[in-house]
Amino acid sequence: MPRLGVNVDHVATIRQARGGSEPDPVSAAIIAELAGADGIVVHLREDRRHIQERDCIILRQIVSGKLNLEMAPTDEMVKFARTLKPDQATLVPEKRQELTTEGGLDVVSGIEYLKPLIGLLQNDRISVSLFVDPDIDQIKAADRCKADAIEIHTGRYADARNEEERELEFDKIRMAASLGKKLGLSVYAGHGLNYHNVQRIVSIKEIEELNIGHSIVSRAVLVGMKEAVRSMIELINIKLLMGK
Ligand code: PXP
Repeated sequence: MPRLGVNVDHVATIRQARGGSEPDPVSAAIIAELAGADGIVVHLREDRRHIQERDCIILRQIVSGKLNLEMAPTDEMVKFARTLKPDQATLVPEKRQELTTEGGLDVVSGIEYLKPLIGLLQNDRISVSLFVDPDIDQIKAADRCKADAIEIHTGRYADARNEEERELEFDKIRMAASLGKKLGLSVYAGHGLNYHNVQRIVSIKEIEELNIGHSIVSRAVLVGMKEAVRSMIELINIKLLMGK
């Protein structure tokens, strides 16, 4: 059974909408681990739109499973990761204007740049995973970079507009996972996975870990709504009764 890493970025997105302190992604991480998550994932973006340094620092102290820091392969982020020492760094491409990570890292073009950077992280005992499209050349390049793992981008599979397209994308993921495993890389997958499309991905036996964020946070907001509203009504009623 693949492990589950829960990405709590979007708990921080709600917090940042008001600029206050709640909901705290750290509390969400604690509950996710209590519920059985194998690890916690956060993406510290250059624009700090959701996760902040403070979140990463507290998470490093309290996460008992794997702490996976998603980060752009920049000098600033490498410096931060080497101080934080997450269990794993997942290198992702980052564009300022994107709503979310739009595609895999171009490892083929960036091999000379990425190799020493990966080495620096590994020297600090941080395992390095590269977020890549299900593309044979990218996976071979990840192996040449001496990465520990690849995370296969499942976004195009998740966004497929029809069954034919979904099959095509699924096959690419299956072949990518098989190649990654053959090369000795750990194979993970993520992006866009939800309650409808995850089971198909689980059938790919080479995939050891899934990283899922948006769909879990979305579900949490809805399944928690009833209790949240009831608690508020209870408080209002108690106040009314005490006032009588
Ligand atoms: N894996 C990577 C590398 C990502 O960048 C993201 C999004 O932050 C995820 C997994 C999770 O994607 P989603 O929020 O769509 O589940």
